Amino acid sequence: MPSTNSNRWREHFAGVELPVPVHGDSTVTGINFDNAASTPPLKRVRDMVTEFSDLYSSVHRGTGYKSRLSTEAYEQARERVARFLGVDEREQVVIFVKGTTDALNRIAAEEARLDGSQVLVTEMEHHADLLPWRHRSGHVMVGLTDAGHIDLDAIEHALKDGRGKISLVAVCGASNVTGFVSPIHEAAELAHRYGARISVDAAQLAPHHRIDVRPPGDPGHLDFVSLSGHKMYAPYGAGVLVAPRDFFSGAPEVMGGGAISIVTWDDTVWADLPDREEAGSPNVIGAVALGVAIETLLELGFEEMLEDEVRLGDRLLKGLGAIQGVGVLGGTEPCPSGRLALASFVIDGLHHGLVAAALSHEWGIAVRHGCFCANPYVFHLLHMSREEVGAVEIDVTAGRRQTLPGAVRASLAPYNTAAEVDRFLEAVNELARGGVKSTYEQADDGTYAPSGGWPPIKMAVR
Ligand SMILES: Cc1ncc(COP(=O)(O)O)c(C=O)c1O
Repeated sequence: MPSTNSNRWREHFAGVELPVPVHGDSTVTGINFDNAASTPPLKRVRDMVTEFSDLYSSVHRGTGYKSRLSTEAYEQARERVARFLGVDEREQVVIFVKGTTDALNRIAAEEARLDGSQVLVTEMEHHADLLPWRHRSGHVMVGLTDAGHIDLDAIEHALKDGRGKISLVAVCGASNVTGFVSPIHEAAELAHRYGARISVDAAQLAPHHRIDVRPPGDPGHLDFVSLSGHKMYAPYGAGVLVAPRDFFSGAPEVMGGGAISIVTWDDTVWADLPDREEAGSPNVIGAVALGVAIETLLELGFEEMLEDEVRLGDRLLKGLGAIQGVGVLGGTEPCPSGRLALASFVIDGLHHGLVAAALSHEWGIAVRHGCFCANPYVFHLLHMSREEVGAVEIDVTAGRRQTLPGAVRASLAPYNTAAEVDRFLEAVNELARGGVKSTYEQADDGTYAPSGGWPPIKMAVR
């Protein structure tokens, strides 16, 4: 009999009823509001990984039964990803990678070979969608609207200014800080109008929205899509890069076995896609797990699941907005292109690290705090001047991380419930009213821990 703290999706997810220790030697059922960082597996995915482990073997060239079976499962996973995203495999290729960071670095490595071309990025990007461009291909960064939304006019201006120089527009599908969904197809139309391609960092979007890359003839089609399995209920180390087939030229960035047709004493003939971009032994179990996660989401009713999730997100945002002393990054107004069930916030007078520690230690609620690997965006949302950021940079470079500003992030998934959101709001309200119960100490790295230390971890992993 499901508890009232349930919904129709919860039973399909693993590890969501875990008792966690809290202060005073007691235990509560943990609330996981850290899904934007990583998600638990769907139970079907977890069980499949166990079952498939008995059948697993190397893929592609093995003649044994298990090799043939594993090869089929691996290629079936590729087809499932392609279908899920609407990829026409004659025009685009689905490449299995480690995750979004790996995928974006792969694109940047190829981009870096295009002489003099630059990548246009927004101020909203996660470091994974910023640093590869900055340090490999070179980038132009465009600002956002005052509310922190993608600014299509600014993108168009930059494309006009850099006409011919900008080969790629890199934009996140949804922000991991505010949950703002980006107008990706509108940005794609602009990119294409000015002769550039578009890359969508879909790490946050893919688990919470249907993505359709659309056919290449469509002005709003998506050229590149990157995503991570561990953020969509398949945390087994595989991710995806969707790219145009004609993008890859010359030697691949990662070279090795499996990527070639023939190697002679002097020559290398590269294999066709996707093999040439998947050198080395692939993460078969991870890829198959991702394919099964996708199938499961679709079978369960992905669209309905997302509708429920959005309702939960509204409850979270409205609730936070109503608590005095709490400021939500990006405000609580809807974003024109949608908003994920995610909110980052600050509480007046309380360090973000302290709030996160107290939520865990006193309430059993897991959140994330800091700048969420999106420093420029968080600085923008906190209205910090360049001088203020410069001062923080000096501190951090000198090892004084305590002054690093930030926020606390609650990010939901379909298995979370209205009762959990209400409990979380109760906790935030209590903390905002001065109700921190334990004492905490701040470490040199800026994090907080209970003065007597965290309750010991009962290690169940052998
Ligand atoms: C928006 C966004 N992009 C990229 C990444 C990087 O994903 P991964 O760590 O799976 O490579 C993250 C991870 O949090 C993210 O939120």
